[in-house]
Amino acid sequence: MIEVHLGDITRLQVDVIVNAANQHLQGGGGVDGAIHRAAGPGLLEACRKIGGCPVGEVRATPAFSIPVKRIYHTVGPVWRGGNLGEPELLASCYRQCLALARRENVHSIAFPAISCGVYDYPPEQAVEIAVEQVQQHLDRDCEPQRIVFCCFDEAMAELYRQQLEAYVRR
Ligand code: APR
Repeated sequence: MIEVHLGDITRLQVDVIVNAANQHLQGGGGVDGAIHRAAGPGLLEACRKIGGCPVGEVRATPAFSIPVKRIYHTVGPVWRGGNLGEPELLASCYRQCLALARRENVHSIAFPAISCGVYDYPPEQAVEIAVEQVQQHLDRDCEPQRIVFCCFDEAMAELYRQQLEAYVRR
Protein backbone atom coordinates (compact mmCIF):
# COMPACT_ATOMS: atom_id res chain seq x y z
CA MET A 1 0.00 0.00 0.00
CA ILE A 2 1.31 3.42 -0.97
CA GLU A 3 0.06 6.53 0.84
CA VAL A 4 0.56 10.23 0.34
CA HIS A 5 0.63 12.13 3.62
CA LEU A 6 0.70 15.86 4.14
CA GLY A 7 2.59 16.96 7.25
CA ASP A 8 5.67 16.57 9.42
CA ILE A 9 7.49 13.27 8.94
CA THR A 10 8.55 13.21 12.61
CA ARG A 11 4.90 12.78 13.64
CA LEU A 12 4.15 9.70 11.55
CA GLN A 13 3.37 6.31 13.03
CA VAL A 14 5.63 4.06 10.99
CA ASP A 15 8.54 1.71 11.69
CA VAL A 16 11.12 3.79 9.84
CA ILE A 17 11.39 7.40 8.71
CA VAL A 18 13.89 8.37 6.04
CA ASN A 19 16.00 11.48 6.46
CA ALA A 20 17.21 13.58 3.50
CA ALA A 21 20.68 14.08 4.98
CA ASN A 22 24.01 15.40 3.74
CA GLN A 23 27.25 13.46 3.20
CA HIS A 24 28.66 14.53 6.56
CA LEU A 25 25.58 13.31 8.49
CA GLN A 26 25.93 16.35 10.71
CA GLY A 27 22.40 17.68 10.62
CA GLY A 28 21.19 20.69 8.67
CA GLY A 29 17.98 22.49 7.77
CA GLY A 30 14.79 21.21 6.16
CA VAL A 31 13.65 17.73 7.05
CA ASP A 32 17.11 16.90 8.43
CA GLY A 33 16.81 19.76 10.94
CA ALA A 34 13.28 18.73 11.91
CA ILE A 35 14.36 15.12 12.50
CA HIS A 36 17.39 16.10 14.60
CA ARG A 37 15.31 18.51 16.69
CA ALA A 38 12.65 15.89 17.33
CA ALA A 39 15.10 13.04 17.99
CA GLY A 40 17.33 14.99 20.38
CA PRO A 41 21.12 15.22 20.70
CA GLY A 42 21.70 11.45 20.78
CA LEU A 43 21.02 11.36 17.05
CA LEU A 44 23.86 13.72 16.17
CA GLU A 45 26.21 11.64 18.30
CA ALA A 46 25.12 8.42 16.53
CA CYS A 47 25.57 10.10 13.13
CA ARG A 48 29.03 11.36 14.08
CA LYS A 49 30.07 7.82 15.00
CA ILE A 50 29.00 6.60 11.55
CA GLY A 51 31.15 9.36 10.07
CA GLY A 52 29.34 10.09 6.80
CA CYS A 53 27.41 8.63 3.89
CA PRO A 54 28.09 8.84 0.14
CA VAL A 55 25.44 10.26 -2.19
CA GLY A 56 22.91 7.59 -3.17
CA GLU A 57 23.59 5.40 -0.13
CA VAL A 58 21.90 4.91 3.25
CA ARG A 59 22.97 4.58 6.89
CA ALA A 60 20.68 3.61 9.79
CA THR A 61 20.51 4.88 13.36
CA PRO A 62 18.18 4.47 16.32
CA ALA A 63 15.43 7.09 16.48
CA PHE A 64 16.00 8.33 20.06
CA SER A 65 13.02 10.53 21.07
CA ILE A 66 11.05 9.96 17.83
CA PRO A 67 8.63 7.07 18.38
CA VAL A 68 9.73 4.99 15.39
CA LYS A 69 12.14 2.04 15.37
CA ARG A 70 14.86 3.43 13.12
CA ILE A 71 15.90 6.41 11.08
CA TYR A 72 17.42 5.79 7.65
CA HIS A 73 19.70 8.62 6.55
CA THR A 74 20.11 8.83 2.81
CA VAL A 75 21.92 11.48 0.80
CA GLY A 76 20.21 12.69 -2.35
CA PRO A 77 22.09 14.34 -5.20
CA VAL A 78 22.37 18.11 -5.53
CA TRP A 79 20.64 19.08 -8.79
CA ARG A 80 23.26 20.39 -11.22
CA GLY A 81 21.26 20.23 -14.44
CA GLY A 82 20.60 16.50 -14.65
CA ASN A 83 23.63 15.32 -16.63
CA LEU A 84 25.81 14.41 -13.69
CA GLY A 85 24.07 11.19 -12.75
CA GLU A 86 21.42 12.85 -10.59
CA PRO A 87 18.52 10.57 -11.68
CA GLU A 88 20.47 7.37 -11.01
CA LEU A 89 21.73 8.67 -7.66
CA LEU A 90 18.23 9.66 -6.55
CA ALA A 91 16.84 6.29 -7.65
CA SER A 92 19.62 4.63 -5.69
CA CYS A 93 18.52 6.44 -2.49
CA TYR A 94 15.05 4.87 -2.76
CA ARG A 95 16.37 1.46 -3.81
CA GLN A 96 18.91 1.29 -0.99
CA CYS A 97 16.39 2.39 1.66
CA LEU A 98 13.86 -0.21 0.48
CA ALA A 99 16.48 -2.96 0.31
CA LEU A 100 17.64 -2.16 3.85
CA ALA A 101 14.04 -2.06 5.06
CA ARG A 102 13.55 -5.51 3.55
CA ARG A 103 16.66 -6.86 5.31
CA GLU A 104 15.53 -5.36 8.62
CA ASN A 105 11.97 -6.75 8.35
CA VAL A 106 10.45 -3.29 8.31
CA HIS A 107 6.69 -3.21 7.63
CA SER A 108 6.18 0.54 7.19
CA ILE A 109 8.47 3.30 5.99
CA ALA A 110 8.00 7.01 5.24
CA PHE A 111 10.02 8.99 2.71
CA PRO A 112 10.31 12.77 2.46
CA ALA A 113 10.78 14.32 -0.99
CA ILE A 114 14.52 13.62 -1.10
CA SER A 115 16.56 16.37 -2.84
CA CYS A 116 13.48 18.53 -3.48
CA GLY A 117 14.39 21.30 -1.02
CA VAL A 118 17.90 22.70 -0.52
CA TYR A 119 19.28 20.29 -3.15
CA ASP A 120 17.01 21.84 -5.78
CA TYR A 121 15.92 18.73 -7.71
CA PRO A 122 12.97 19.61 -9.98
CA PRO A 123 10.01 18.20 -8.01
CA GLU A 124 8.19 16.60 -10.96
CA GLN A 125 11.24 14.67 -12.04
CA ALA A 126 12.09 13.65 -8.48
CA VAL A 127 8.55 12.45 -7.81
CA GLU A 128 8.56 10.39 -11.01
CA ILE A 129 11.72 8.61 -9.84
CA ALA A 130 10.40 8.11 -6.29
CA VAL A 131 7.13 6.57 -7.50
CA GLU A 132 8.86 4.39 -10.08
CA GLN A 133 11.34 2.97 -7.58
CA VAL A 134 8.70 2.27 -4.95
CA GLN A 135 6.33 0.66 -7.47
CA GLN A 136 9.12 -1.47 -8.89
CA HIS A 137 10.01 -2.62 -5.40
CA LEU A 138 6.37 -3.53 -4.64
CA ASP A 139 6.11 -5.40 -7.94
CA ARG A 140 8.85 -7.75 -6.67
CA ASP A 141 8.29 -7.77 -2.95
CA CYS A 142 5.42 -7.37 -0.49
CA GLU A 143 7.46 -5.78 2.31
CA PRO A 144 7.60 -3.09 3.51
CA GLN A 145 3.86 -3.40 3.00
CA ARG A 146 3.13 0.27 3.83
CA ILE A 147 5.13 2.99 2.09
CA VAL A 148 4.32 6.62 2.82
CA PHE A 149 5.35 9.64 0.74
CA CYS A 150 5.37 12.40 3.34
CA CYS A 151 5.01 15.88 1.84
CA PHE A 152 5.37 19.19 3.55
CA ASP A 153 3.12 21.11 1.18
CA GLU A 154 -0.02 20.42 -0.81
CA ALA A 155 1.60 21.11 -4.20
CA MET A 156 4.10 18.32 -3.60
CA ALA A 157 1.38 15.96 -2.34
CA GLU A 158 -0.60 16.62 -5.53
CA LEU A 159 2.44 15.75 -7.66
CA TYR A 160 2.71 12.37 -5.92
CA ARG A 161 -1.01 11.68 -6.36
CA GLN A 162 -0.83 12.50 -10.07
CA GLN A 163 2.30 10.42 -10.57
CA LEU A 164 0.81 7.43 -8.73
CA GLU A 165 -2.30 7.61 -10.92
CA ALA A 166 -0.19 7.93 -14.07
CA TYR A 167 1.89 4.90 -13.06
CA VAL A 168 -1.18 2.74 -12.47
CA ARG A 169 -2.63 3.73 -15.88
CA ARG A 170 0.53 2.81 -17.82
N1 APR B 1 8.57 16.61 7.17
C1 APR B 1 8.46 16.24 5.87
N2 APR B 1 9.01 16.91 4.86
C2 APR B 1 9.73 18.03 5.14
C3 APR B 1 9.92 18.47 6.48
C4 APR B 1 9.29 17.72 7.51
N3 APR B 1 9.39 18.06 8.79
N4 APR B 1 10.68 19.59 6.44
C5 APR B 1 10.95 19.84 5.14
N5 APR B 1 10.37 18.90 4.36
C6 APR B 1 10.39 18.75 2.90
C7 APR B 1 10.76 19.97 2.08
O1 APR B 1 9.61 20.79 1.89
C8 APR B 1 11.21 19.33 0.77
O2 APR B 1 10.09 19.06 -0.09
O3 APR B 1 11.42 17.82 2.57
C9 APR B 1 11.80 18.00 1.20
C10 APR B 1 13.31 17.88 1.11
O4 APR B 1 13.90 19.13 1.40
P1 APR B 1 15.25 19.29 2.25
O5 APR B 1 15.00 18.96 3.65
O6 APR B 1 15.82 20.62 1.94
O7 APR B 1 16.21 18.11 1.65
P2 APR B 1 17.18 18.06 0.37
O8 APR B 1 16.69 18.89 -0.75
O9 APR B 1 17.43 16.60 0.12
O10 APR B 1 18.50 18.74 0.87
C11 APR B 1 19.33 18.09 1.79
O11 APR B 1 19.39 19.96 3.26
O12 APR B 1 19.27 20.55 5.45
C12 APR B 1 20.01 20.01 4.53
O13 APR B 1 21.37 18.53 5.82
C13 APR B 1 20.51 18.61 4.73
O14 APR B 1 22.35 19.33 3.46
C14 APR B 1 21.20 18.51 3.43
C15 APR B 1 20.20 19.13 2.46
